Amino acid sequence: MENNRSYRKISEKADIQAAMALFNSCADNGEVLYKRFDTETAFERFFLHREDGVRTISIVESQYGGFASGCLNEQGTKGYVTFVAVQPERRRQGVGRELLHTLEEQLRAMAGEKLESFEASFFNPMNFVWIVPGTDGHEHPNAPGVDVAGSGYLFLKNCGYRDFAYQNSYHLNLQGYQMTEDVARKEETLQEKGIQITYYDSEKHTGLEETLVNLNNDMWYKEIMAVAAKKDGPPLLIVDWNGKAMGFTGPLYVQENGRGYLAGVGIHSDCRGNGAGKVLFGRLCTGLRDLGAKYMTLFTGETNPARNIYEAQGFKIVRTWADMHKQAK
Ligand SMILES: CC(C)(COP(=O)(O)OP(=O)(O)OC[C@H]1O[C@@H](n2cnc3c(N)ncnc32)[C@H](O)[C@@H]1OP(=O)(O)O)[C@@H](O)C(=O)NCCC(=O)NCCS
Repeated sequence: MENNRSYRKISEKADIQAAMALFNSCADNGEVLYKRFDTETAFERFFLHREDGVRTISIVESQYGGFASGCLNEQGTKGYVTFVAVQPERRRQGVGRELLHTLEEQLRAMAGEKLESFEASFFNPMNFVWIVPGTDGHEHPNAPGVDVAGSGYLFLKNCGYRDFAYQNSYHLNLQGYQMTEDVARKEETLQEKGIQITYYDSEKHTGLEETLVNLNNDMWYKEIMAVAAKKDGPPLLIVDWNGKAMGFTGPLYVQENGRGYLAGVGIHSDCRGNGAGKVLFGRLCTGLRDLGAKYMTLFTGETNPARNIYEAQGFKIVRTWADMHKQAK
């Protein structure tokens, strides 16, 4: 169909201002949960000039009817769709589809032959901070896919993207939080087996590194080993089985926004099935509460058994996100 619309990469100040105004109007009216950008500098740092070196593309419709942005993974094999928005009065006229198509073509041109697929997923290195609805501004630092309750979900589906996984975001209010009785009883059973949940002490405990290797997660290994090596670092909670650290959670600290930080929770494969994960996590929640944290947020895969641990503490699902992809060839 003939139309006089055209699309171009963001280049001028006016483009940035228009794109930011559209993004913020979607955030302000609740169409997206993402936190608004307060300054053009912050907007530019996120979408255009990234300190982490991620290669991004941002485009606008020439009459500022829409804005889209995406990026490539390090290898150039995946193109991520980060954001697409169209002015309300210009919707359902094909602008979104054309923006997305232009974005895909630009990502393809930047990546070259290596590009395999397009994705809207938690692997995207451009992480939006978003606000948990119905809370007093409780924030989570990344949105792991496409909000299935937003208009972008059906839009992407109708533009050829297919779901490959679902992530659930969980939230727990820590004010007045108490460990559930069931989990408290489990702690007693663990103690009878000689398993204690306690704070890590490098003078007393061995085996932390071995457990982290067993868990086979590079990010945890780096973060937890760095914290463990510090004399005055934030505390770590561990599963202490005869002096050996057979599980970890933490480091425990409260972020500026009142969120109780969480790197992860992991139990050595030799120690699973004892309920140690649930108790360890319950102790993390009480520990963060005692440090003054107001809330916790996290996400996990729809089919990940770890969800039982979170649900046992009273965490509620506040959003479901779809991870979507489309072949690029
Ligand atoms: C999602 C959005 C970008 C779509 O823009 P648009 O210009 O209306 O999209 P198009 O007209 O090109 O729609 C393409 C197809 O997507 C589907 N689609 C678009 N919006 C839809 C909706 N709200 N519900 C169901 N299907 C929808 C339709 O199949 C449509 O084709 P059709 O009109 O021929 O049936 C727009 O609704 C928007 O800006 N939403 C707010 C911001 C947002 O949530 N962005 C997603 C987060 S990244």
